[in-house]
Amino acid sequence: MAYVLGIDIGTSGTKTVLFDERGESIASALEEYPLSQPELGWAEQNPKDWWNAVVLSIRKVISKSNVKAEDIKGIGLSGQMHGLVMLDKNGEVLRPSIIWCDQRTSEECDEITRKVGRERLIEITANPALTGFTASKIMWVKKHQPEIYAKTAKILLPKDYIRYMLTGEFASEVSDASGMQLLDVPNRKWSDEVLDKLEIDKSLLGKLYESQDVTGKVNKEASRLTGLTQDTIVVGGAGDQAAGAIGNGIVRPGIVSSTIGTSGVVFAYTDKVTIDKKGRVHTFCHAVPNTWHIMGVTQGAGLSLKWFRDNFCAEEKNSAELAGIDAYDILNKEAAMVKAGCEGLIYLPYLMGERTPHLDPFARGVFFGLTSRHDKRAMLRSVMEGVGYSLNDCMEIIKGMGADVNEVRASGGGGKSPLWRQIQADIFNSEITTINSSEGPALGVAILALKGAGLYSSIPEACDNIIKRVSTQKPNEENSKLYKKYYEVYKDLYVSLKDQFNVLSKIK
Ligand code: XUL
Repeated sequence: MAYVLGIDIGTSGTKTVLFDERGESIASALEEYPLSQPELGWAEQNPKDWWNAVVLSIRKVISKSNVKAEDIKGIGLSGQMHGLVMLDKNGEVLRPSIIWCDQRTSEECDEITRKVGRERLIEITANPALTGFTASKIMWVKKHQPEIYAKTAKILLPKDYIRYMLTGEFASEVSDASGMQLLDVPNRKWSDEVLDKLEIDKSLLGKLYESQDVTGKVNKEASRLTGLTQDTIVVGGAGDQAAGAIGNGIVRPGIVSSTIGTSGVVFAYTDKVTIDKKGRVHTFCHAVPNTWHIMGVTQGAGLSLKWFRDNFCAEEKNSAELAGIDAYDILNKEAAMVKAGCEGLIYLPYLMGERTPHLDPFARGVFFGLTSRHDKRAMLRSVMEGVGYSLNDCMEIIKGMGADVNEVRASGGGGKSPLWRQIQADIFNSEITTINSSEGPALGVAILALKGAGLYSSIPEACDNIIKRVSTQKPNEENSKLYKKYYEVYKDLYVSLKDQFNVLSKIK
């Protein structure tokens, strides 16, 4: 039997999973690390923390399983997208990584739009300039830390830094590179035009591959540290969203995924480049050659519930610890006691600004419609519903772009909650399904590694063999009707508050 590793370098931690060639998970390990927020709207992490977590989790997974290192044929890397890692000429990290949810770069986005032209930028990179994307982070360092920029020899994405540490190769692949805003997305290559206009030297970027291609092998030092052999291949891998989509079987039209991780994403496959001219959803290269995907991203999905848990649910956390269960299980039970719609209490999940559909780094979280009847439980449920409305914003745009939506597959940590799945089914007014694996991105990149190691002939073939549907939840008609009314109010709220969010951002 052959085995592969799927490694997902997430925002809260790195998860490494060992899979056999049938896609069965054999052992897994999670290593967490901190997120630093040195100023309001900033978010940074230390790339060395990611690397230590990768090394430790690989070692744990190997020692937990009875699998011999020589039977581990390949590695697929997935990870948080967009983060900026800058290395000097010796491959040393120059500054903390400015990660995907950092919102400091609105001025640099204006500069990028001015230099490239809004329409041309969308034509080439398939997206308008966004604070989350890497290009504006590069421009920020260029402007604010020119001494660091001058020393920069390589610019990498988070998982591509791990590839460098594992193999010594400077490389990326098309799905993650799409989120840098330096890629010609329709033609799947670095854009000379954007690089020239932004005066970023192409030699700073890694060599570009398709996600399933072999990009290198584990080198001597990484082999010493991890216990893997130097024959282990490392494939391109994918950004966490494309990887999660492969791990959910989103490799054909009609099946869409809705993922609640830290952020929330609605993801649809397309076999031609389809771009929203308003730039409200992202069009990126998919991790299957010659295909693309559209995705809507809400910044504060799981993040909202985690924020609520960490700030207001100490009691539930203590009880969960005593009972040896997950605090989210208690929160789910409490939220289920509240009637759908929370009697008009509506939450806007804009704790880290918002991408789809507003593209507004200044948007803020809101509880609207509080009365003296509302309690903590109602606020809790309204957080879950608010995330549902915000995912529905993504869904509506994607449907409006002509994507077929015959089935919605729930995934991510939030997708494990039957209540949150039902809320989504009711708000989308669509069936919600789950599949036989909850490993998402780790499974997705393991599938890419299985293809790279020659165990399957294509990604769709591997998905057909490995991924099976296991549960279906139907929408509740009455709740759907009610949510439809509240959703209209939810949409109007941002329009009403937009100017005030902006004013708030200017008060120092
Ligand atoms: C996708 C995105 C997030 C991050 C973190 O565009 O920003 O999915 O990759 O998970």
